[in-house]
Amino acid sequence: MSKEAKLQHWRMANTTKGKVCVTGASGFVASWLVKRLLEYGYHVLGTVRDPGNHKKVGHLWNLAGAKERLELVRADLLEEGSFDDAVMACEGVFHTASPGTVLDSAINGTLNVLRSCKKNPSLKRVVLTSSSSTVRLKDEADLPPNVSLDETSWSSLEFCESLQIWYAIAKTLAEKAAWEFAKENGIDLVAVLPTFVVGPNLSPELSPTATDVLGLFQGETGKFTMYGRMGYVHIDDVASCHILVYETARATGRYICNSAVLDNNELVTLLARRFPSYPIPKSLPCVYGDQTYDFSTAKVRELGMKFIDVKEMFDDAVESFRSHGYLLN
Ligand SMILES: NC(=O)c1ccc[n+]([C@@H]2O[C@H](COP(=O)([O-])OP(=O)(O)OC[C@H]3O[C@@H](n4cnc5c(N)ncnc54)[C@H](OP(=O)(O)O)[C@@H]3O)[C@@H](O)[C@H]2O)c1
Repeated sequence: MSKEAKLQHWRMANTTKGKVCVTGASGFVASWLVKRLLEYGYHVLGTVRDPGNHKKVGHLWNLAGAKERLELVRADLLEEGSFDDAVMACEGVFHTASPGTVLDSAINGTLNVLRSCKKNPSLKRVVLTSSSSTVRLKDEADLPPNVSLDETSWSSLEFCESLQIWYAIAKTLAEKAAWEFAKENGIDLVAVLPTFVVGPNLSPELSPTATDVLGLFQGETGKFTMYGRMGYVHIDDVASCHILVYETARATGRYICNSAVLDNNELVTLLARRFPSYPIPKSLPCVYGDQTYDFSTAKVRELGMKFIDVKEMFDDAVESFRSHGYLLN
């Protein structure tokens, strides 16, 4: 969604919308989703593991509309039935929480939420936060030069296993299990597949990926060397994309959510030039050889989505690191 469209949407949000559940509401991505949902007029029932932990949830209570339209309740992906009450009270669910790379927990956590969804016959739609890592990780032989990957592509579990990329395996198995369960049980499921998410942190506590970005501005090269060529997307676009696919009746299936794909070397060259006062390396090795894949975002653009560019997402991230005291000006 363009900035103007977002403002328009925000202005139109005088009328209160329905109640929706956001799982893992205090996370990096989910916090932005909660922010935008409140601005658009929704009642938000956020699930967190500890609603009393002010360090983790305090920033949510500062959001516009939170006092009037936000509730936080306790739920844990690893406890069967934990989401029943929250999901029962809502007409839509955004399942964003993720227990990390433990395979059983990733699959069963997602199925646990979907089993709660199955119990609510008036649920309109479930939006699952998956990842572009379920799409792009394959043998070179399956990635022809300059291939544009779309939503029909799935990562190879054998390839991920050979490189021990457990996160991608967990996300791929969890998403596949979600599709199977939704099909068997008549749940209207739509999945958003963000690439690497960059942008301002609403919470003063940094998520693992935001910590990686901060590291790059402090001269650490390990993480981004291993990331290789990657897609990048602004966190605000990820939030908007979730709402867009929730609200658009004709939205169906998977949606890649990406602004631009860059080699790690291209990224650091751009950032070192743009932020000369930080010890960003001027180049990074391409440990995977020549990678040339791109992502097609035609499907989500057709719904009206527009993406913020890479410069702006890193400008916003740096501004946020400065305001939280992680980086000096
Ligand atoms: N960040 C990215 O670049 C990126 C890219 C693509 C996809 N994604 C996906 O986006 C989603 C959010 O990621 P994020 O970057 O925002 O990560 P994050 O800040 O670490 O948030 C993860 C959330 O999951 C919750 N969680 C973990 N284990 C849980 C459990 N057992 N029960 C209930 N909640 C649990 C955490 O709750 P606590 O606060 O209690 O720990 C946290 O709120 C994930 O599904 C991730 O795979 C992220």
